[in-house]
Amino acid sequence: MPPLTLAIETSCDETAVALLRGHDALLVSEVASQIDRHRATGGVVPEVASREHLGALPALLPQVLAAAGVSWGEIDAVAATRGPGLASSLMVGAAAAKGLALGLGRPFYGVNHLEGHLLSPFFGPAGGHVRPSVGLVVSGGHTLLVEIAAVGRYRRLGGTLDDAAGEAFDKVGKLLCLPYPGGPEIDRLARAGGDPRRFDLPRGMTGSGDFDFSFSGLKTAVRYLLPKLATAAPGGTPLPLADLCASFQQAVVEVLVKKTLVAARATRREVVAVSGGVSLNTQLRGDFTRACAAHGLELLLASPALCTDNAAMIAFVAAMHRAAGLPPTPLAADIDPNLRLPFLVADAA
Ligand code: KG4
Ligand code: ZN
Repeated sequence: MPPLTLAIETSCDETAVALLRGHDALLVSEVASQIDRHRATGGVVPEVASREHLGALPALLPQVLAAAGVSWGEIDAVAATRGPGLASSLMVGAAAAKGLALGLGRPFYGVNHLEGHLLSPFFGPAGGHVRPSVGLVVSGGHTLLVEIAAVGRYRRLGGTLDDAAGEAFDKVGKLLCLPYPGGPEIDRLARAGGDPRRFDLPRGMTGSGDFDFSFSGLKTAVRYLLPKLATAAPGGTPLPLADLCASFQQAVVEVLVKKTLVAARATRREVVAVSGGVSLNTQLRGDFTRACAAHGLELLLASPALCTDNAAMIAFVAAMHRAAGLPPTPLAADIDPNLRLPFLVADAA
C-alpha cells in the first residue's frame, strides 16, 4: 500500500489536519477556521491564534484518524508547516507533528507553506504530477511568481514589493468597512453588478519590465477616492460600493494575469499554475481561463478547497518530496517565520 502521510498546518489562523495515501488519495482534510475569533479585532492577533491552535489540535487529530478509519500505527510520515507564517502559530503545529513523529518512530517533514500553495494546482484532477510551469501564488501574505522545473526545483521570477494581493483586498475591505477578510466580500459585491470601468485605479508596475508587483499604490488610491466620493454625493447617498469593488478587483486581476502571461512567454513554459486564497476570486479565475485559452497555455487552478490554507497541500508536498527522494527534516530543525522557497536555478526541462 502507498505510504500514509499525516499533515498539520497552523501557519496563521486555520488549524488544519489531513491524511493522504500516496500522493493522490486524500482520505480526510479538515480545516478548523478561527475566522470568527478574529473578526472582532479586524485581523489576526498572533497569541490568540496560537492559543486557538493549541485548543483545536488535540480534538482534530483523533477526529481525522477516526474519519479515515486508520490507526496511529498505520501512519508512515508526519508533516507540518515549518514556515513562513506566524512564529507562535507555526510552533504549535510543528511541535505536535514532531512529537507524533518521535512517538511513532516515523520521519518528519517540515514543509514550506509557499511550496504547499505553489504545488496545490497539481493535486487532484491534474493527476498528482508536478509539471514544468509558471506558478503564481496569491494569498493573504504572499504574491509570488515562480518558474517550476520539478518538485524542489524552483526559480523566483518576481514578487510583491509591498502588500500581497490578498492583503490589498483585506485593507481595501477595511477602508470600505466590509467584514474581515475583505477578499470574499469584495468579490461578492463586484459580482453584484459592479462596473469595473467606473473608477480608473492604478495598475502598479505593469510597465516595469520585470515580474515584480506593487499593490500599495492601489490601496492608497482607493483611500483618497473615498472622501472625494463622499463630498460629491452629500446627504447620505450610499457609496457606489459594487463599482468600487469591481474597479479595484479589475486593477489587481489585470496586473496578475498580464505579468503571469509575460512570465510564461519569457520562460517558454506552456503550463500556468495559480494558487492561494486570492485564486478563489471569481474574476481572477475567469480572466485567467480566458487569457490562457487565448494564448494557447494550459491553466491549472488550485481546486477551491485547496486555495485557502489547508493541510492537504502540506501532505502533498511531503509525499512529493518523499517520492522524489528528497530527505525528511531533522527533528532539531526549528520553525522559520521567514522561510523562503529553496530557489535553485532550474534546468531547462
Ligand atoms: O492562502 P490564504 O488562506 O492565506 C495565506 O496563506 O496568506 O489566503 C487568504 C487570503 C485573504 O487575504 C482573503 O481575503 C483572500 O485570500 N481571499 C480572496 C477571496 N477569498 C479569499 N480574495 C479575493 N477574492 C476572493 N474570493
Ligand atoms: Zn497560505
